[in-house]
Amino acid sequence: MTVWNPNLYQDQHSFVWKYGSDLLPLLNPQPGERILDVGCGTGQLTASIAEAGAIVTGMDSSAEMVAKAAINYPAIPFLVGDIRNWRSNQRFDAVFSNAVLHWVKDADAAAASIAASLRPGGRFVAEFGGFGNTRLLLEKGGLQNPWYYPGISEYAGVLERNGLETRQAFLIDRPTRLEDPQFGLRNWMAMFGKQWKLDQPALMELEEKLRPHLFYDGHWHIDYRRIRIVAVKW
Ligand code: BEZ
Repeated sequence: MTVWNPNLYQDQHSFVWKYGSDLLPLLNPQPGERILDVGCGTGQLTASIAEAGAIVTGMDSSAEMVAKAAINYPAIPFLVGDIRNWRSNQRFDAVFSNAVLHWVKDADAAAASIAASLRPGGRFVAEFGGFGNTRLLLEKGGLQNPWYYPGISEYAGVLERNGLETRQAFLIDRPTRLEDPQFGLRNWMAMFGKQWKLDQPALMELEEKLRPHLFYDGHWHIDYRRIRIVAVKW
C-alpha cells in the first residue's frame, strides 16, 4: 500500500488542485447540495466546494492525506475510504473527483461505488489521467505503466455498465511544469513513482533518458493528458 507524504504533495505539487479548480465550473456546486469529493488529498478543492455553500464530505484512501486535510479545514468532514468498496447510507447529489481515478485499476468497482453513492439524477464530475497520459515519461523512461488511463469510449462503457450515463467527455493535453528547476522530476518521482523503487543512481539515469523529452524552458515537465467526464446516474 502506498504511504503518501501530504507535505510534499501540498508544497511541491499544488498544480494538482490548481488545475483541478478548472473542473469546479463543470461541477457547479449549489448551496445545500450534498457532494462527495473522492480522493480529496489535502482538501483544497473540497474547501472550494464548501465555499460555494454545498455540504461536502472529503474522502481519501490515505489516512495521512485525510489527517492533513482535517488540519487544513477543520469545519469540513473528511474520512478515510477506498472507492472500490465504499458504501454509504447517504445519497449524494454529486460525486466529484480530481486527479485520482487513474490509481484505481478496478474502474468498474469504483464506478459501482460512485453510482451507489448518488441519488437518481445525481451527477459524477471527474478528471484524471486519460489515454496517452505520461506516455513520454513511461516510454522514454522504460517504465512499466502502473496506472489506469482509459480513452473516452472505454470509460463511457465502464460508467454505462454501472448505471452512469456520460453526458460530456474530453481528452485534454496538459503538459505541466514542475516547480523545482533542478529536482522537479525527482520530487515528482518521490511523490508518485515510489512503486518503481528507484535508487539514486537509477533516478539519475532516468533523468538523463528523459531530459531530451521532458526538460525544456529551464524546467522539468510531465506530459499529462486528462480525461474529463460529466455523467449522470439514471
Ligand atoms: C496524473 O495526475 O495524471 C498522474 C499523477 C500521478 C501519477 C500518474 C498520473
